Amino acid sequence: MFNIQVEHREGKVFRCAEKEDVLTAARRQGVAIPLGCRGGGCGMCKIQVTKGKFDRGKSSMEVLPEGEREKNYSLACKTYPLGDLTIKI
Ligand code: FES
Repeated sequence: MFNIQVEHREGKVFRCAEKEDVLTAARRQGVAIPLGCRGGGCGMCKIQVTKGKFDRGKSSMEVLPEGEREKNYSLACKTYPLGDLTIKI
């Protein structure tokens, strides 16, 4: 289990299991992240990881272009933490 801290939400922290995506974990614990397709294709769930390492699953280049990937933007439905993370929603 990893701790995911949300910036600018009074230090809200939720837990995410290994191999679980951030979107599923957040919603299970009452942290609102907008969602659409849940398949890495619509961009509705875009977040920015400001601290920590993660795996990025298959994400559309159209909604998450290279420039945003370099700045650690990611799609929450395809973001798999490798340790504790801090994110911006
Ligand atoms: S919900 Fe559509 S990209 Fe995540």
